[in-house]
Amino acid sequence: MEVTIKPDAETATHLTAKLIANQVRENPELVLGLATGRTMEGVYAELARMHTEDGLDFSGVKTFNLDEYAGLPASDPCSYRYYMNEHLFSRINIDLANTHLPDGTASDIIAECARYEEAIASCGGIDLQLLGIGASGHIGFNEPLSSLHSRTREQVLAPETIEQNSPLFPSPEQMPSRGITMGVATILESKNAVLLAIGRGKAEILAKAVEGPVTSMISASALQFHESCRIIVDEEAAAQLAGREHYRRMFDNPAL
Ligand code: F6R
Repeated sequence: MEVTIKPDAETATHLTAKLIANQVRENPELVLGLATGRTMEGVYAELARMHTEDGLDFSGVKTFNLDEYAGLPASDPCSYRYYMNEHLFSRINIDLANTHLPDGTASDIIAECARYEEAIASCGGIDLQLLGIGASGHIGFNEPLSSLHSRTREQVLAPETIEQNSPLFPSPEQMPSRGITMGVATILESKNAVLLAIGRGKAEILAKAVEGPVTSMISASALQFHESCRIIVDEEAAAQLAGREHYRRMFDNPAL
């Protein structure tokens, strides 16, 4: 694991976008794993800017999102498909046929989850997986007790996740209680991973995930097993990392 602490949310967000852009430039056929949520909005805005102003080319890129709400169609403004179209896909030159999310409306959820795993495998696996961390310690919708061997499947959302995301729905009771998510093992198989966490609200759970024991109760802690995982945080999110001064010395790279 590598922990990079940036002074504020904007520089942490821009560094994350820059790492993605570098990978897209190096490999125009990159298979990119994506996340949704408030944290990612700035990353996608910056990638869209790089596309418009610097010609960053997404025409050969394939994407796989981590998760989707069960029961929400793509046309629902609260669905993650809608979010992705809105924040990124409609703003860059990606072929929509190359963008993948689990289908939250599938009648056979088990078959849909197997199909999603196969689709990832048939693209050769995920080259770079973008991640956020939720209040429950989840990555994707891998809620407490998610097996570290888990694959794409349906999950009942944790109370912390309902509390975190229900304000984004027209009324809190409209938030689905289940989601479809890549599993922890699916995420660990990505060749590279980048987790972005910003703001003081993430400080406690981030410290548990990075410095605490690996536990299925905090699925982000499984990233300690990832071969190549970079954690990018602002000062506020880094505030409870016991080793933050050491990480600064180890990973401070003035070029970034
Ligand atoms: C969503 C996802 C989640 C979010 C996490 C943080 O696709 O993967 O793990 O990254 O819930 O959400 P925000 O950024 O809204 O705090």
